[in-house]
Amino acid sequence: MISRLRSVLADSGYTVDGVAARLGDAHAALGRNETTPAWRVTDSGDPLDTLIRLFLLQRWVSKDLVEIAFGAPVEDFPDLFVADGKEVKALLDVRPYAEDDRSWWVIADLTPGLDGRREPMRTDYVLGIAPASISLVNLTVPVRVDSALDIGTGCGIQALHLAEKSGRVVATDVNPHALRLAGWTAELNNVEIDVREGSLYEPVEGERFDLIVSNPPYVIAPPSDGKLTYRETGFAGDAVVERLLRQAPGHLTEGGWCQLLANWTHVRGEDWQDRLAGWTGGREAWAVQREVLDPAEYVELWLRDAGLHGRPEYVRRYDEWLSWLDEQRVEAIGMGWITLRNVPGELVAEAWPYEIEQPIGPHVLSRFERDTPDDLLEQHLVVAADVVEETAGPPGAEDPATIVLRRQRGMRRAEQADTVLAGFVGACDGDLSVGQILGALADLLGRPLEDLHRDYLPKITGLLREGFLDTV
Ligand SMILES: C[S@@+](CC[C@H](N)C(=O)[O-])C[C@H]1O[C@@H](n2cnc3c(N)ncnc32)[C@H](O)[C@@H]1O
Repeated sequence: MISRLRSVLADSGYTVDGVAARLGDAHAALGRNETTPAWRVTDSGDPLDTLIRLFLLQRWVSKDLVEIAFGAPVEDFPDLFVADGKEVKALLDVRPYAEDDRSWWVIADLTPGLDGRREPMRTDYVLGIAPASISLVNLTVPVRVDSALDIGTGCGIQALHLAEKSGRVVATDVNPHALRLAGWTAELNNVEIDVREGSLYEPVEGERFDLIVSNPPYVIAPPSDGKLTYRETGFAGDAVVERLLRQAPGHLTEGGWCQLLANWTHVRGEDWQDRLAGWTGGREAWAVQREVLDPAEYVELWLRDAGLHGRPEYVRRYDEWLSWLDEQRVEAIGMGWITLRNVPGELVAEAWPYEIEQPIGPHVLSRFERDTPDDLLEQHLVVAADVVEETAGPPGAEDPATIVLRRQRGMRRAEQADTVLAGFVGACDGDLSVGQILGALADLLGRPLEDLHRDYLPKITGLLREGFLDTV
């Protein structure tokens, strides 16, 4: 079935660009889950229109047209289609996906919510490419490795990307339906993935990997019926993230990487950074909290995600969830990502809700690889090409009231500077050493050199760590 599907998709031009060109302005409406504009421009009866109507619009399509597109009876594809008299409907979402110069197709369960429809999801529902999936793709460090592991593979999107950079890819999930779809996604793209069933690290007992990624089912929800496997696990609170991190070093090669999307609780009376630090076991790690929600915001977000807003059980579920969070002493929930590298070190955990460059993976890699030199005074530094200086103050004033050094790339950090630090950074063209520039500034300002060393060397170290400055 899959090889036939592959040739139909390829021969029909069912690619990201092909679909966008065919839909024109209707493409934007489809992005808002509205299918009517796309329906109106896909009536040619050619295979590309047929595929769009079947898989992206989830419409009933004439059996004759489907058989023309597939060159075979629809009965040959029982996993893909259901027929009703002379009409056929898709049972799965098959969509083109592209990044940079690579393109793939991904198979998942049908996208919910088209045209405002509200259908409760099956509990083993397999999510397609979601914004969180893309966040993890963008977070993944750009390294070539021998072995990679995708925990909770779902439709297989991370595994497809890992296969681009790894000699061997293992993809795991607790959901057999997900593993079947991930296997089909891999086969459809002629990619080899070792698909295994089991929870967290169970399927890879005794094995080590150079790169582990997971977009795990991190939603912090009360134990309840009707659980959605793609987002909840039955682990208490944020224990799924804790276990993934605690057990990561035992499954990583020396210097290997583990990267997770995660939600974590802010427990009353405890510091969230300290809780996370307890999970990273003396390994170098970086946690970034991109957003923090209070319990009510959090519950609303995930009840809506499950299509429950406005349904009879909404108020009861909302109340139960809030009570449960309160019993767990949860006062807020942090949402973000964690990178752990299997080398000795400690966790740096920070809140950074500002816009960042995407993909952020290359920046994550360089942050872990950047060393701050011991002999800083001897170093010759240059300003990174993306640093700009922003000054503000009253019109006509001799000196600015504030100076901000801002990076345009990576985390897009901003550092407040005084005139001495700004003067120092301005002089970093690789010609003079740090010691020579500080010496010249001490002479110019009539200040003791030791004072400048004490006040500015830590700041210069910070600028080096954040990539404002580089060694020559
Ligand atoms: C949010 S989806 C992520 C899917 C996909 N990797 C992506 O990035 O879009 C989480 C996946 O984890 C799986 N999962 C749930 N509990 C798990 C467990 N205990 N161990 C491994 N996978 C699990 C779910 O079935 C689901 O496929």
